[in-house]
Amino acid sequence: MRTQVCIIGGGPSGLLLSQLLHLKGIDTVVLERQSREYVLARIRAGVLEQGFARLLHEAGCGERMDREGQVHEAFFISDQGRLHRVDLNRHSGGNSVVVYGQTEVTRDLYAARDRLNGIVIHEAEDVQPHDLTGDHPFVTYRQGGEEGRVDCDFVVGADGFHGVSRKSIPKDVLREYEKVYPFGWLGVLSRTPPVSHELIYARHDRGFALCSLRSPVLSRYYIQVPLTDRVEDWSDDAFWEELKRRLPGEVAARLVTGPSIEKSIAPLRSYVAEPMRHGRLFLAGDAAHIVPPTGARGLNTAGSDVHYLYHGLVAHYLQADSSGLQQYSERALARVWKAQRFSWFLTTLLHTFPQSPEYDRKLQEVELAYLWSSEAAQRSLAENYVGLPY
Ligand code: APR
Ligand code: PHB
Repeated sequence: MRTQVCIIGGGPSGLLLSQLLHLKGIDTVVLERQSREYVLARIRAGVLEQGFARLLHEAGCGERMDREGQVHEAFFISDQGRLHRVDLNRHSGGNSVVVYGQTEVTRDLYAARDRLNGIVIHEAEDVQPHDLTGDHPFVTYRQGGEEGRVDCDFVVGADGFHGVSRKSIPKDVLREYEKVYPFGWLGVLSRTPPVSHELIYARHDRGFALCSLRSPVLSRYYIQVPLTDRVEDWSDDAFWEELKRRLPGEVAARLVTGPSIEKSIAPLRSYVAEPMRHGRLFLAGDAAHIVPPTGARGLNTAGSDVHYLYHGLVAHYLQADSSGLQQYSERALARVWKAQRFSWFLTTLLHTFPQSPEYDRKLQEVELAYLWSSEAAQRSLAENYVGLPY
């Protein structure tokens, strides 16, 4: 098979890029290791920046998000039981975020790819990029016992944190930066009305908690747990009890509980790989960087990568201008690191660190006290939460 851009990974990054390029007449093939059902069963965060929402519209995929997504103009931080509202709208010059699940974004992208007869090859095993520093790169794979090969101009590694693309950058070229946090998030999805219309990020001595939502009848909650905990250790009842303890009394009192539809533990990690380009390979999204979920920067940062890469490829093919591709890694990383900083900041501010000295706890307290006393600090929080410009 021959295409212009071979995209490894059919998650939101790969699909969005494929869809955007198709609309500009640029041909892509997407190779995805899993089945579509598997990809669409993954539950991930659900807060979209306006920049990401714009990109989805540009890709012709914004209709259901407009209909079913909820525009949020604020969120709450609860500090040891006291609620404070962070007014995004007021502090970011009228900006807001859209609450719409990543799973739904991915579903809409698949539907859009289907409508345009986009090629997405599922259950592609042993995907391997070749000759990335030459002029004729290609990607090999197996599907149902058959060998496949895609010849292309460029390879995009959008295959997530555990993908193969990043590993094909030589060790002496790749620089990795990593921070592993000593806890995870236990998440529960339940068919219950959300306890709060606006998200609540809760700091508490027993550990962090988050109240989020997917719709007026579907809630998503998280609690910080030790890395040694397993999902089986947590009955639904134990989860609800612990969540209530970490929320303000009035919020806990109105929490509607019910059976969990999904329950999982995700460790928290910050990671960046540099550079994001090697020869004719470009990394995008989780393949190049991940953030802890506090502040929901993951998908949004994947979105800014896709934006830079999309414009770089369009300029290359339609205007014979390769400067956007040349500058891709540098541009993408500048914004990636800002998202890293913000995710680290919110994580550090709101979680209980098992080994940390009293001094660090005092710093969390004064940081929050400063936040509530300073318009400038709230503006900075809001500006980062709604997404820095790109
Ligand atoms: N070959 C082909 N496909 C692969 C391979 C491989 N070797 N390895 C992984 N994949 C696929 C995965 O099955 C997955 O569907 O690549 C896709 C990567 O998707 P994501 O992990 O969702 O990453 P990305 O598209 O960059 O989306 C970023 O997802 O994890 C969240 O916080 C993150 O919200 C952010 C978003
Ligand atoms: C979610 O709804 O899953 C969610 C929301 C906000 C976050 C993280 C996760 O910061």
